[in-house]
Amino acid sequence: MKRSSGLWWGVMGVILCLFIFSCAQKEDVIVLGEFGSLTGVTATFGKSTQRGIEMALDELNQTGGMEGKRFKIVVEDDQSKPEEAATAVKKLINQDKVLMILGEVASSRTLAGAPICQDAKIPLITPASTNPKVTQVGDYIFRVCFIDPFQGEVMAKFARNTLKVSKAAILKDIKNDYSVGLAQFFTETFTGLGGQVIAEESYAEGDIEFRAQLTSLKAKNPEVIFIPGYYTEIGLIARQARDLGIKVPLIGGDGWDSPRLVEIGGKALENTYYSNHYTPEDPRPEIQKFITEYKTRYNETPDAMAPLGYDAAKIAFDAIKRSGILQEQNIKKAYKENPKASYLMEAINTPGNRQPIRDALAKTKDFPGVTGMITIDENRNAKKTAVVVKIEGGKVMFVETINP
Ligand code: PHE
Repeated sequence: MKRSSGLWWGVMGVILCLFIFSCAQKEDVIVLGEFGSLTGVTATFGKSTQRGIEMALDELNQTGGMEGKRFKIVVEDDQSKPEEAATAVKKLINQDKVLMILGEVASSRTLAGAPICQDAKIPLITPASTNPKVTQVGDYIFRVCFIDPFQGEVMAKFARNTLKVSKAAILKDIKNDYSVGLAQFFTETFTGLGGQVIAEESYAEGDIEFRAQLTSLKAKNPEVIFIPGYYTEIGLIARQARDLGIKVPLIGGDGWDSPRLVEIGGKALENTYYSNHYTPEDPRPEIQKFITEYKTRYNETPDAMAPLGYDAAKIAFDAIKRSGILQEQNIKKAYKENPKASYLMEAINTPGNRQPIRDALAKTKDFPGVTGMITIDENRNAKKTAVVVKIEGGKVMFVETINP
């Protein structure tokens, strides 16, 4: 009898603690959302971004949060699939009631989530989606990276002026907005510079066999092959191209960037080049400090998505701060306007409060990011420097920096 009543009190105690804890959580925490590919064909995109975002979040919370409020970020895995990306965004908005959202890396997946954010007037910042259509979805959609008309131009100029070739072939992922767009922008500049795109072939994400396309490209004798895809396919394409005796340079864009690329492609990746958002060889102190911290935490050199995720989160925090919605008088006002609200997020997460965040984001100017100075332009894009890197001896090496 005595024993069982002790147990009863124990259980009640635990329940009470959990209740108090959950109230405290609801009371104080500002909740943001993130969706990304933590698993699937582009798993490193989501993982690196998440690590970068987590670093920014920890930094904020460890320095006292914002106006005394702690932040939390709910992360949803979309398994590298656009349909799942849409589902993830709906869950973040409807179930987790987030104030704003960070993500995705792949343009097609950001494009799947962006209209949902736009309709709900939830500000979205993509750290790394470069297709122009992304921010055209509407005035709540932002990015902190450059766009593909620039990136395509960078690689077309590199091919024409640095590699000094005039006949290019293209192999693109037909189901991927990023790949299709980048192929087009590359072609525009390359032909504008007097070059010729003499052959074009396509594949679809998830394919593992590219020999038919490569054989037909080879027959046309291109001097370079532009492959604007993601790392998993790129690794395989490079191997099969070299097996078929294709020796010309293979070039691409930021989608190549992954610690997995060289693991998959191995020696086949010698004589390849791609454009990217950052290089760990950049001596700028902001970058070197970030790399040191990242290595201490995750025991790996960060790819571009990690600092881009970090910058996206920092810019989100900065905009929330400048919006003023967390200032004491504004929180009081929010509770007054929403008398039924029983905790902070419920009171402040209204369209009337998200608009000032949107406006603050739109006014982001000269923000000192790890990936460079970030100014959001009138189309909610960022103008930033690109780098060209090459793979040599299994290592990614810096070649040149190109300013917009
Ligand atoms: N820019 C690519 C896209 O829009 C995504 C990406 C960014 C991939 C950075 C790798 C590095 O789809």
